[in-house]
Amino acid sequence: GPELFGARRNARGFDLTAAPDLAEIEAARAPFADAVFDAGPMLAGRTAGGLRHEVLNPATAARVGFVTDAAAPDVETALRLAEPWAAEAAVRAEVLRRAADLYEGEFGPIFALLAREAGKTQADAVAELREAVDFLRYYADGAGALAHPARGVFACISPWNFPLAIFTGQIAAALAAGNAVLAKPAEQTPLIAAFAVGLLHKAGVPVTALQLLPGDGAVGAMLTRDARVAGVAFTGGTDTALKIRASMADHLAPGAPLIAETGGLNAMVVDSTALPEQAVRDILASSFQSAGQRCSALRCLYVQEDIAATVLEMLFGAMDDLALGDPWDLATDVGPVIDRDAQAGIAEYVANARAEGRVLKEMTAPQGGTFVAPTVIKVPGIAAMAREIFGPVLHVATFRAAELDRVIAAVNATGYGLTFGLHTRIDDRVQQMVGALRVGNIYVNRNQIGAVVGSQPFGGEGLSGTGPKAGGPHYLHRFTAAPAPEADE
Ligand code: NAD
Ligand code: ALA
Repeated sequence: GPELFGARRNARGFDLTAAPDLAEIEAARAPFADAVFDAGPMLAGRTAGGLRHEVLNPATAARVGFVTDAAAPDVETALRLAEPWAAEAAVRAEVLRRAADLYEGEFGPIFALLAREAGKTQADAVAELREAVDFLRYYADGAGALAHPARGVFACISPWNFPLAIFTGQIAAALAAGNAVLAKPAEQTPLIAAFAVGLLHKAGVPVTALQLLPGDGAVGAMLTRDARVAGVAFTGGTDTALKIRASMADHLAPGAPLIAETGGLNAMVVDSTALPEQAVRDILASSFQSAGQRCSALRCLYVQEDIAATVLEMLFGAMDDLALGDPWDLATDVGPVIDRDAQAGIAEYVANARAEGRVLKEMTAPQGGTFVAPTVIKVPGIAAMAREIFGPVLHVATFRAAELDRVIAAVNATGYGLTFGLHTRIDDRVQQMVGALRVGNIYVNRNQIGAVVGSQPFGGEGLSGTGPKAGGPHYLHRFTAAPAPEADE
């Protein structure tokens, strides 16, 4: 609450409708349009280094740079040299705030890397940098009020879809609480991770308190089975979280926390009192922004039968106006998916739906990169969706007013519980649904992505995560040696 976090301001960001802001962005990122980045393990001692390989731009297949993965001896070096950050909380907070300022100042290379390595549109890149900066300042503000000491060495294992924001958020929280961090970025986005760690070191985070171990899941697994690790912050797929939990149970001390934020099967209900224009705008953003590669993204739209034809006609028209292409182009609305494996998996899923005659709308994907065309698929309900399809694929079902309880039951029965969207003008319905749904974040008459640090603590329940919510007042405590987990809000 406010007693911990005081007066706080979120990052300014950029206004992408303002010509001066656009000019500033273009000038700052231009020197990094063709730069070849190079990254590897960032250790407090000598680096052995594993495989060195290219990192390619998902939109163009052009080279972004090279990364040297961490080898087993690098993991050992990092574990041996890791030292919890002994500085006072006020000093740690000051350093994290300085890092936030450095991040903001380096928006040119950061935007270039987010577009080129992660396929982020400019709008997504602006939001991502803001979120990273907000996490740094928010957790810095909380550092001084923690009642318990650091746990020791934290493994922070992050996904490619928020290669700066989530990568930074986990690290900032662990460091704010005084831990040592071993950061394992996603294998698809090591370059932005290395750039961020460089800024954190420059701000004053000791190299023994923050080391970087690039590599695939095997590097993460080496950390989660090492008894010197005192806790794990993980964001990624639910299956991976379950593997990590099993590994920790076998190897880490009893009580070592796993803070896991995982996948979702997220629904939105649009009833017949909703404003169709507003609903369509929010369906479009929730499903297709970031090419649908957000854990929070809308996967299954339930639209009330009476207005379904109107809403879908407007939605398909709005989809035709989306600009698909290279995210380097400031006009692009939807970029590529992250890599060939993701593209092939989604394409196969859509092909099956097409063969069954369930595709209602499909755009045409640009050539050359790992693009997937935004697609709408008809389903009888969310129960028909066996898993999270992590791309620009929206499922649509219809319902009658009398069936609303069945819709709620079906959403709860998925076992996931991350985000939910509701478009209605019936106040009682809002209360009814908020009371009945077992999900972390419910958004009413707006889109259901882009939780704002400090205002909309973010995280789910069930198969969607352990809590506490990131960007909320309970998160930091889990990184301390507090005796029992705090209840989450
Ligand atoms: P992923 O689970 O494949 O990988 C995430 C990280 O875990 C990577 O760094 C990976 O190398 C590492 N990893 C893989 N196997 C491991 C193992 N056995 N032990 C330790 N580490 C291991 O997920 P992804 O494809 O990078 O990200 C997409 C997924 O993340 C989606 O399911 C999405 O919903 C989820 N996600 C959730 C949130 C949230 O806040 N709830 C946010 C973003 C993404
Ligand atoms: N926090 C991110 C969102 O809300 C995942 O979209």
